[in-house]
Amino acid sequence: ALISMRQLLDHAAEHGYGVPAFNVNNLEQMRAIMMAANKTDSPVIVQASAGARKYAGAPFLRRLMEGAAEEWPHIPIAVHQDHGTSPAVCQRSIQLGFTSVMMDGSLGEDGKTPMDYDYNMGVTRKTVEMAHACGVSVEGELGCLGSLESGEAGEEDGVGAAGKLSHDQMLTDPEEAAQFVKDTYCDALAIAIGTSHGAYKFTRPPTGDILAIDRIKEIHARIPDTHLVMHGSSSVPQEWLDIINQYGGEIPETYGVPVEEIAEGIRHGVRKVNVDTDLRLAATGSVRRFLAENPAEFDPRKFLKEALAGMYDVCVKRYEAFGTAGNA
Ligand code: G3H
Ligand code: 13P
Ligand code: ZN
Repeated sequence: ALISMRQLLDHAAEHGYGVPAFNVNNLEQMRAIMMAANKTDSPVIVQASAGARKYAGAPFLRRLMEGAAEEWPHIPIAVHQDHGTSPAVCQRSIQLGFTSVMMDGSLGEDGKTPMDYDYNMGVTRKTVEMAHACGVSVEGELGCLGSLESGEAGEEDGVGAAGKLSHDQMLTDPEEAAQFVKDTYCDALAIAIGTSHGAYKFTRPPTGDILAIDRIKEIHARIPDTHLVMHGSSSVPQEWLDIINQYGGEIPETYGVPVEEIAEGIRHGVRKVNVDTDLRLAATGSVRRFLAENPAEFDPRKFLKEALAGMYDVCVKRYEAFGTAGNA
């Protein structure tokens, strides 16, 4: 059944677990996520970005989500709009039947320009007023995702701030977070702790100077009743990079957010963990391997089935590691 994200995250907080929020663009991703949730008895958050709406079209995305609820009626599903750039964008998603929206007012309507507190607070509050009137939850964001290692905002596929950011912009301030939640009534808050979107987060396995898990603890201590959200939380599994590169891919050395660090965040108030890149890597590795090993095959179902299996594997591992399993 479709439920609001607030309901889902309240349960997660009460029982001390986290929920992966997987990005969805197509049938294979949706089925992989749902089959893994069914296997592990996990509640589900699926989210659609602006890129997903452009790729699949909003009507198809909505029906994919409805299809999931119809096929697996016993699994609670929150249907979330990822990185909304304005209250108007969020309004359209509410009308389409999403049960949760993100108003990312840390950036302007171009999705790139860092904005000040008052702008962010204003657009988030406006979205909350609209969404709550419809029983829809709102995720806000305070602080800009970006690499503490390079100082670059650096998102390779267009979601996230552009150019250089200051150290302060890339780490959410606990006092400001408390003020923001008080001013906006948002249901969940995305925080900046040094992660960035995509596969190229860190050039070495991250340590405390470039991945600020301690900052989560400070924020949670200040606002213990707010559900915290980690963006850019793919772990970039080495085994999938190896498979991609073994079968013709060329992905340079790179590191993501270790699953153990996410688990530590979950012990300190993180309830929603955004994962997109890891499913992309698993899908690409699976397809590359299948086509290389079966050069005479041409039925797309054969390689898409492999992609689904690779993504399913990642989903099962995340549901287990985040404590989601057994909570549907
Ligand atoms: O927010 C970032 C997600 O990975 C979505 O990426 O805009 O390419 O769909 P996308
Ligand atoms: P990754 O690129 O690390 O998977 O992050 C996805 C995300 O934050 C979507 O909002
Ligand atoms: Zn994100």
